[in-house]
Amino acid sequence: MVKEKILVIGASGQIGVELTLALRKIYGEANVLASDLREQNDLLRGTGPYVSMDVMNKEMLHVQVIRQGITQIYHLAAILSATGEKNPHLAWNLNMQGLLNVLDIAREEKLHKIYWPSSIAVFGPTSPKKNCPQQTIIEPTTVYGISKYAGEFWCNYFHQRFGVDVRSIRYPGLISYKSAPGGGTTDYAIEIFHEAMQEKKYECFLHQDTFLPMMYMPDAIRATIELMEAPEEKISIRTSYNVSSMSFSPGEISKEIKKYIPDFTITYKPDYRQAIADSWPQSIDDSVARKDWGWKEEYDLAGMTKDMLSNLK
Ligand SMILES: NC(=O)c1ccc[n+]([C@@H]2O[C@H](COP(=O)([O-])OP(=O)(O)OC[C@H]3O[C@@H](n4cnc5c(N)ncnc54)[C@H](O)[C@@H]3O)[C@@H](O)[C@H]2O)c1
Repeated sequence: MVKEKILVIGASGQIGVELTLALRKIYGEANVLASDLREQNDLLRGTGPYVSMDVMNKEMLHVQVIRQGITQIYHLAAILSATGEKNPHLAWNLNMQGLLNVLDIAREEKLHKIYWPSSIAVFGPTSPKKNCPQQTIIEPTTVYGISKYAGEFWCNYFHQRFGVDVRSIRYPGLISYKSAPGGGTTDYAIEIFHEAMQEKKYECFLHQDTFLPMMYMPDAIRATIELMEAPEEKISIRTSYNVSSMSFSPGEISKEIKKYIPDFTITYKPDYRQAIADSWPQSIDDSVARKDWGWKEEYDLAGMTKDMLSNLK
């Protein structure tokens, strides 16, 4: 068996922490190098090697890849939807140039595999709202969505033209309790749990009936690893796979939380993030991922709420 040495870029982020820990379990602590611009997340300390690195510094990235004998990269560093709208140029620069640096090095050094996440933010107001298909009208209106859609085509290009084995998932909003969210429009679905536990009330920045596609982090980590471990011939999508597990609104999640915290109350004060949410689909058709590499979710809203609350206790 080929020995893999994995580099995770953006390892201190919401997904990076949990993905790094999961990869270390599979490939061995020493074989998963965590890296980030910011300090190492506390949950990663003592679990394996860490290097401080800026993905925009291509030379430094290249040196690390050669020096450490890296064979795979999981590239997670990005500016997310809500933060991106505050600084569109910064979001475009990091989201595009970071990816191009990784893809160029993957090609030059003949890396075995690359993982790069896209998002349901690629879809725009003209995409179907319900069960949005894998291939459909895609006209994103946020800089984040534009950068993710362009990124998908760069991945496809590097695969077609240079044979780089790059794989991708369009994550929905991800809900987790271990590491904090990074400035996305679906962050309310994490904040609501913390506020419900601590304050028994929450003011939501989206309307009561704003339905969005969501996923619990354990499912997202498993989807990522299953996609990366699938045989190459099973991968028919080289832009990015639709993957889905649940769709709910702030009203619905607050009802679910009330089952455990009966005196919890929610109020609604939509801000600029409402327009972002309104531009996205409410639910996603992921039949291609199910057919190609056997994707199936484990958590629904009820299962996720129960698990979140018991872990936050
Ligand atoms: N969390 C979600 O709900 C969600 C949904 C869809 C897609 N995604 C995508 O998944 C990926 C990871 O998201 P996340 O939620 O973990 O984000 P996050 O903001 O929590 O983490 C991103 C990490 O990247 C690091 N970073 C930023 N600039 C960097 C640079 N120049 N060099 C190196 N590291 C840098 C940050 O310090 C941070 O730790 C992103 O590509 C994001 O677009 C996330």
